[in-house]
Amino acid sequence: MVPRAVSGPVEPSPLVNDLPGPDQVTLRRVGPGGTWASDSAFGVALVTLWHRVAEAGGAVGFAPSVSRAEVAAVVAGLVDDLRSGRAFGFALNRNRTLVGVGVLRPGRGLSSHTGEIVAVMVDPELRGSGSGTRLMTALISQARDGGLQKLQAAIRDGEGLDGFFGRFGFVEWGRRPGWIRFGPAQDRDEIILGADLGAAVISTPVIETSDQGTAGVNRADSGPAQ
Ligand SMILES: CC(C)(COP(=O)(O)OP(=O)(O)OC[C@H]1O[C@@H](n2cnc3c(N)ncnc32)[C@H](O)[C@@H]1OP(=O)(O)O)[C@@H](O)C(=O)NCCC(=O)NCCS
Repeated sequence: MVPRAVSGPVEPSPLVNDLPGPDQVTLRRVGPGGTWASDSAFGVALVTLWHRVAEAGGAVGFAPSVSRAEVAAVVAGLVDDLRSGRAFGFALNRNRTLVGVGVLRPGRGLSSHTGEIVAVMVDPELRGSGSGTRLMTALISQARDGGLQKLQAAIRDGEGLDGFFGRFGFVEWGRRPGWIRFGPAQDRDEIILGADLGAAVISTPVIETSDQGTAGVNRADSGPAQ
C-alpha cells in the first residue's frame, strides 16, 4: 500500500511566529544541537506533561490514576537518551510551560537506517490545535535529514491513532495481540505502524521558533544543567 501523503505545507502553522506573544506556542529542538537542554528541569517538565496526558486518557503507556513516580521512571531513560543524542526530540513551549513533546530514537547497527517514534503527545488543552502535526512534521523532517529511511511507531488499538499517524504515511505493519492490559479481560492490541520515508512527501525544514529570553527555555548548547 502506498503511504498517504500529507497535503499542503505543515509549517508554518498559525501557531508559528517569529515574535511570539505570551500565549504563543513555540517549537524547540531538545538536546545536542537544539535550544532546549535535556536537563533535570526538562525532565521534571516532561513528567508533568506526561502525567497530565495519561490522566486525561492519552495513549502514553499508562491508564489514568498513574502516579508521577511511575511516569518518572519511564521519562528518566528518555531524558538520558535525549541528553546523549541517542534520541532526538522536539518540544512545544507556551507560557514557559512544556505543552508538547515528540521523541524519535534512531536504530543502531544493521538498523541504523531506521527509527522509532517513542513519544508524541500534547497537553490535553491543545488537542486538535495542530500541535501534534507540528511535532510529527519536525520529527520526520529531522529523521530524513539524518538519513533515516523507515520509521515505526507502536500505538494502542481502538483510539483512532492510526488515522493520525496515517496522515504522515504510516500504515499497519503488524500487531501484538493483547499487549496492553487495562484490567482483567480488558486487553487491547498494540499496533505496529511503519512509514517508508522514501515514499512520503513531507519535506519541510524544521523551523525552531524564536522566543529568546523566555524563562523555562534553556540553551542546549550551553551544556546540561544538572
Ligand atoms: C495524538 C496527538 C499527539 C495529536 O495531536 P493534536 O495536536 O491533537 O493533533 P492535530 O491537531 O495536529 O491533528 C491532526 C489531525 O489528526 C487528527 N487526530 C488527532 N488526534 C487523533 C486521534 N487520537 N485519533 C484520530 N484522529 C486524530 C485530528 O482530528 C486532525 O485531523 P483534521 O485536521 O482532519 O481535523 C494528541 O491528540 C495527543 O497528545 N494525544 C494523547 C497522547 C497520544 O495518544 N499520543 C500518541 C501515542 S502513540
